[in-house]
Amino acid sequence: MISKLEGGPADQPEIGLGEAYSVETPDDNRELYGRWASSYEAGFVSDNRYVYPFQVATAFIDHSEGAARRVLDVGCGTGLVGVGLRALGGHQPDGLDLSPEMLSEAGLKTDSHGQPIYGNLVVGDLTAKLNLPDGVYDGVVSAGTFTHGHVGTGAFDELYRVAVDGALFVVGINTDHYENLGFSERFRSDRHFGRISEPEIRRVPIFEAGENADERAILVIFRSTGG
Ligand SMILES: C[S@@+](CC[C@H](N)C(=O)[O-])C[C@H]1O[C@@H](n2cnc3c(N)ncnc32)[C@H](O)[C@@H]1O
Repeated sequence: MISKLEGGPADQPEIGLGEAYSVETPDDNRELYGRWASSYEAGFVSDNRYVYPFQVATAFIDHSEGAARRVLDVGCGTGLVGVGLRALGGHQPDGLDLSPEMLSEAGLKTDSHGQPIYGNLVVGDLTAKLNLPDGVYDGVVSAGTFTHGHVGTGAFDELYRVAVDGALFVVGINTDHYENLGFSERFRSDRHFGRISEPEIRRVPIFEAGENADERAILVIFRSTGG
């Protein structure tokens, strides 16, 4: 569990989508989201009516049949997927993110009873081994993280490892990256070798306002099979 970090620059220039899409490495991301954490929701989320996290939460609840108890939100950021999961399904997910500052914001989120939205909040890099045990999560969700090209298909090796057999995955992936960076091929292969169920693909809105309001993301939905 991390603790709240104090402060955050109030007078920093506004960060936009262009900058978010241009970062290339884990270090770039850590630096960007460190600067962005305190203004992310008041600026970017609000200005663009960023609905992607709620699309992920809704799809997860639609498919979970109320059964998922331990859910991991990867690249949880300030915790908007968690807010959706709590509101729709009463979940208390764990959150993982590269940025301590983003996790710190997620740690402040509470429900209408004052209970924290998230359980454990863990600093972790999806391009590396995760400091999480094998076979604990029966749900894995993500919004806006397989958007930065540096988080590639290899992340799924670790996500399968930390999931139980039969875990429900609802993961948002950038539409261009889905084919170009090999996600489509990865899931075809994982299906072929019996690691996952047949993936369902949904195309969902990311924003409801702003210049990018017509942009869509792919949600890939499947269950791991432990194969
Ligand atoms: C666009 S934000 C999305 C946050 C949140 N899921 C949402 O929808 O509001 C992307 C998040 O991915 C995290 N991230 C980027 N690269 C990562 C990596 N290699 N490992 C873990 N998290 C990463 C960033 O720190 C950031 O919080």
